[in-house]
Amino acid sequence: MEIIIQPTVEAASTIAAQMVARLLREKPDAVLGLATGSTPLLLYHELVQMKLDWSRVTAFNLDEYVGLAPDHPASYHRFMWENLFNRVNILESNVHIPDGLTEDIPGFCLRYEQQILAAGGIDLQLLGIGTDGHIGFNEPTSSLASRTRIKTLTQQTRAHNARFFGGETAVPHHVITMGTGTIMEARQVLLMAFGPDKARALAEAVEGPITSMNPASILQLHPVAKIVLDEPAASRLRKADYYRWVYDNKPDWQKL
Ligand code: F6R
Repeated sequence: MEIIIQPTVEAASTIAAQMVARLLREKPDAVLGLATGSTPLLLYHELVQMKLDWSRVTAFNLDEYVGLAPDHPASYHRFMWENLFNRVNILESNVHIPDGLTEDIPGFCLRYEQQILAAGGIDLQLLGIGTDGHIGFNEPTSSLASRTRIKTLTQQTRAHNARFFGGETAVPHHVITMGTGTIMEARQVLLMAFGPDKARALAEAVEGPITSMNPASILQLHPVAKIVLDEPAASRLRKADYYRWVYDNKPDWQKL
């Protein structure tokens, strides 16, 4: 894992945007795995400002709430179109987001996995992390080999996401999410975490044991996992000084 600690969300988002931009310049037909939520908002804003060519990019989103129509204000369809897809030149036919209204969830999930494979697999998977260590919506005790499927949200996650719904009671109980096994097949992963609320889950994921009690900890087994943090999210890392030293002393050829 490469741990990159930055003073602010802005600085961290700029680094993440540079990583995505580099991939899109080197591989114009890249396949991106995308996340929603508060964490990637500035990253998407920066990517829009960069005016990159998205005409050959394919995107697969991690997850969607079961029961929400694409135009629901809190749906991840709406989030992605408003914050990124409507603002870059991606083709609608290259956008893939789980269908929260599908009447055949297992069939849909199987096809989603097949579509990822048919696209050649995901080159770069963006991730946030839940306060309980979830990635995608793989909540604690999710199988670390899981594939795209339905999951039940924890109360902790429903409470955290209540801000998008105007209250906790309106937050759906179920989601469709890529599995941790699906995420681990991406060629690179880039996890971002900001704010003190993420510090504990993040420290356990990076420095604790690999356990389904913290699904993000599976990323310790990923060969190319980059973790971009602001200082508050990094505040519980025991080896933070070492990560800073490593980043500040990277050989030139390894720098962005
Ligand atoms: C969103 C997703 C989730 C979020 C996580 C953090 O597509 O898969 O894992 O990344 O819940 O959410 P925020 O960024 O809102 O704190």
